[in-house]
Amino acid sequence: MRHLMNPLDFTVDELERLMQLADDIEKDPEKYSHLCDGKILATCFYEPSTRTRLSFESAMIRLGGQVLGFASADSSSAAKGESVSDTIRIISCYADICAIRHPKEGAALVAASKSSIPVINAGDGGHQHPTQTLTDLMTIHALKGSFDNITIGLCGDLKFGRTVHSLVNALVRYKNVKFVFISPTELKIPGYIKEDVLVKNNAEFEEVSRLEDVMGKLDILYMTRVQRERFFNEEDYVRLKDYYILNKEKMALAKKDMMVLHPLPRVNEISVEVDSDSRAKYFEQVQYGVYIRMALILTLLELV
Ligand code: NCD
Repeated sequence: MRHLMNPLDFTVDELERLMQLADDIEKDPEKYSHLCDGKILATCFYEPSTRTRLSFESAMIRLGGQVLGFASADSSSAAKGESVSDTIRIISCYADICAIRHPKEGAALVAASKSSIPVINAGDGGHQHPTQTLTDLMTIHALKGSFDNITIGLCGDLKFGRTVHSLVNALVRYKNVKFVFISPTELKIPGYIKEDVLVKNNAEFEEVSRLEDVMGKLDILYMTRVQRERFFNEEDYVRLKDYYILNKEKMALAKKDMMVLHPLPRVNEISVEVDSDSRAKYFEQVQYGVYIRMALILTLLELV
């Protein structure tokens, strides 16, 4: 039995196969619409979510399966003090596969260690968010064709942004990917990502604080929200929340074929005027998230 905790749980070849499968699902969804007949997906979300939970549910329903779950800790027995380990044992009796989101780093791993069904980490605190990374990779693959030789700028909350951590982990495995980390000093990429992931893989990277200075060299700009819920005090959040606002003026400095991605939800970091720019791909990204999650469910349930 396989779980997904971290994008590195799949080899580069396995990821390629997953993306090919997602691509085929996009082209011929009918072919896949009954592969999960009789199967149940549980979504156990202890933290807010719109896209991740609903895209998992949509993915399972489109495969012919059914879904059950909870959307907040206070509507589950966590509110009565039940541990994640106990909850997953119970869920294993009700469902065939489970996607879990939890505010604590490592919670999904704890669940996987006690589970008798495949567990998917749908976000564990400020640590990892592998299925967002699958979505991001699928989007880059579909719209750029390859991951090699790209310069990607990651901008905003690089400290608490789990989507950034997972994406960096995944991208260092491709050829000549250059990383530009754009953040205020307080929200820099964590030291463990620099040492254990970037330096270890000989990845080229730089850290800057002004987006304007690097805009012209980026092939992809990955914008992120300042993660209010992970701040220790509101004052720091208020000071940093509007540090970056991508607008038309900044877009004018970018390459004609640059691509703007964002895991969403967007707060203020991308002005709505950018939405109509053909380089803004964050709403397309959402659609790819459904196909890749369909491919993931089929793969973990060993139905393909
Ligand atoms: C992200 C997350 O939950 O980490 N959202 C998502 O799943 N698309 C990004 C965020 O909340 O800022």
